[in-house]
Amino acid sequence: MIPQKTVQEILETAKIEDVIQDFVNLRRRGVNMIGLCPFHNEKTPSFTVSPAKNIFKCFGCGKAGDPAKFIMEHEHLSYPDSLRYLARKYRIEVQEVELTPEAVAQQQAEESIYILNEYARQFYQDQLFETDMGKSIGLSYFKGRGFREETIRKFGLGYAPNEYEAFVKKATQAGYKLDFLKKLGLASQYDKDFFRNRVMFTIFNLSGKPIAFAGRIMEKDAKAPKYINSPETEIYVKNKNLYGAFHAKTAIRKADECILVEGYTDVISLHQAGIENVVASSGTSLTEGQIALIKRFTPNIKILYDGDAAGVKAALRGLDMVLEQDMNVRVVLIPDGHDPDSYLQLVGATAFQAFIDEQAKDFILFKTNLLLAETKGDPVRKAGLVRDIVDSISRVPDPFKRSFYVKECARVMELEEEVLISETNKVVRQILQKRDDARRKKPEVKVNIVPEGDGEFPMEAPPEFEDYMPVVGPMEKQATGHEFQERDIARILVEAGGKIYDEKENMSVAEFVLGSIQDVLEDFDNESYKRIAKEALQLLLDKQPINTQYFIGHNDQVISELAVDLLHTPWEYSPGWAERELYLSSQKMPEENFNKDSLSALLQFKLRKIIRLCEKNQQQLKAVPSDDSSQLMRLLKVQMKLNEMRNEVMKQVGMVVLK
Ligand code: GTP
Ligand code: MN
Repeated sequence: MIPQKTVQEILETAKIEDVIQDFVNLRRRGVNMIGLCPFHNEKTPSFTVSPAKNIFKCFGCGKAGDPAKFIMEHEHLSYPDSLRYLARKYRIEVQEVELTPEAVAQQQAEESIYILNEYARQFYQDQLFETDMGKSIGLSYFKGRGFREETIRKFGLGYAPNEYEAFVKKATQAGYKLDFLKKLGLASQYDKDFFRNRVMFTIFNLSGKPIAFAGRIMEKDAKAPKYINSPETEIYVKNKNLYGAFHAKTAIRKADECILVEGYTDVISLHQAGIENVVASSGTSLTEGQIALIKRFTPNIKILYDGDAAGVKAALRGLDMVLEQDMNVRVVLIPDGHDPDSYLQLVGATAFQAFIDEQAKDFILFKTNLLLAETKGDPVRKAGLVRDIVDSISRVPDPFKRSFYVKECARVMELEEEVLISETNKVVRQILQKRDDARRKKPEVKVNIVPEGDGEFPMEAPPEFEDYMPVVGPMEKQATGHEFQERDIARILVEAGGKIYDEKENMSVAEFVLGSIQDVLEDFDNESYKRIAKEALQLLLDKQPINTQYFIGHNDQVISELAVDLLHTPWEYSPGWAERELYLSSQKMPEENFNKDSLSALLQFKLRKIIRLCEKNQQQLKAVPSDDSSQLMRLLKVQMKLNEMRNEVMKQVGMVVLK
């Protein structure tokens, strides 16, 4: 048992954001951090972490708690074991006091799988480094493949000797039960060693614990399979595991991209060469669980394919699922006869990196080109191709991206855009119909995303996509040229800029408003309102008080007149706001309302800027040449960021309206 004193120390030391960031990609949002919930499947983050309170809460599924609770849930550990986990993480020494027999049994059951696997890992490693056979067969094999010793240790590589009972004997002598060895696949059903004369690869979970093994055959041209694997257990679920994820996760987050390869050796080779954001699907096509795993760290995947055209084509089919998850997928073909590992060894790390950067193609465009080349102008086959491509495009949840793909693919296939639009719309509708049937009970949400008549957004507004596409049409039109929001912001600054917005944070209204729009100040349409905002910002920076008198008594006549004007015209409803039922709380702005009003003004302002940026980005997307994949990728990333921002602002708008 862990002494109470140590429990206390662990709970006081563990930082919620540290603990969670080992598993979930978090972003700052105000005083909190947010990310995609690891406990349920979601597309927009509702998993919130409060460093100040040292707790997490998911507003989607309701899971909440402190660092120990998170580890319990996430790693499926008991409370004491999650404390032990945290103690190890923070290097807190745990001097266990004596355990009850039941506690021993319980703890053993929970940790024993990891412990036995760790024992096996050590065994295979010792065999590799310390025995003659291990050195001459296993170690020389790995070295011959260019793996350095530190890499071999890092990835838990080893050697299983060419004997029938080497491991079984040793492990049972050490007290491990034979049944248990069988359960973990370390012993065969005939009580012999399962892995024999193979080089061993340890498979780790996300927190670096050994959960399974793969063994590669040593003989060439043998009849036996090249790789054999541990069976599935409670802790090793194949379709939720990606080889290398533990060693890659930090790099994936940093690069905001995950490189996907097929083989164990590809992962190790690339990692050793400094390309660390790489994981392997272990020869199979991506599963939903694996996609969810990647998505916790990044929405961007770069897939490196080896193999022939037929293989690649087959692999591409599995990818529509990734599109549905709103991920950006790029693909790279490794030149003939090579896999990522062998190609890297051939050309060196620098050239390899350059190659995958240059060759990465957007998945849908890549697929279009690949299939088009095969039709060789045959109209029947081309029709089939259209269906195939339309199917992929329809799965992309973001209408902006869909409309981009429609344009590009129409161009590549030399089709009328309208054909592709109407085909895509058909499929989108079918998909929606299916989903709608599935959830008919739910109330219908009407979403209008299409500014009328400009033909920019050909797709229908699907209810599912409410997460992606909030209402932008009418409000944006109304707002254009009116500058209501800018006027309201200027008015709030002049009238209430110096007032306290948040007592606890000792923050003034001006600090709050300007803090949130500082980066878009230059985007004000109206020069006079912009000047007021900038003046107020300058005052803040100079630590000068902001008050009405300052603006009214300003020695620049333009400002002083504007200030007076702002103070004297009664508050009016901006048409756009009224339409959204978002209105200023009063004509006069009584004290208790300026918080809410500044927030509203600010959100509306931000929303409009974001929408404008979306449109700009959309224009740029249209202008990208289809072979410029890095530019395309950049713009698609921007698009995703903008969508995220817009969703966030829309959520806040919703909250203000409801408050
Ligand atoms: P090396 O030949 O050692 O470079 O391995 P590789 O990873 O390049 O092998 P390959 O390209 O043939 O296979 C890619 C991945 O598919 C492997 O890393 C394994 O994860 C998986 N795989 C290949 N062959 C087998 C097999 O016989 N059985 C199983 N279960 N998986 C295999
Ligand atoms: Mn290989």
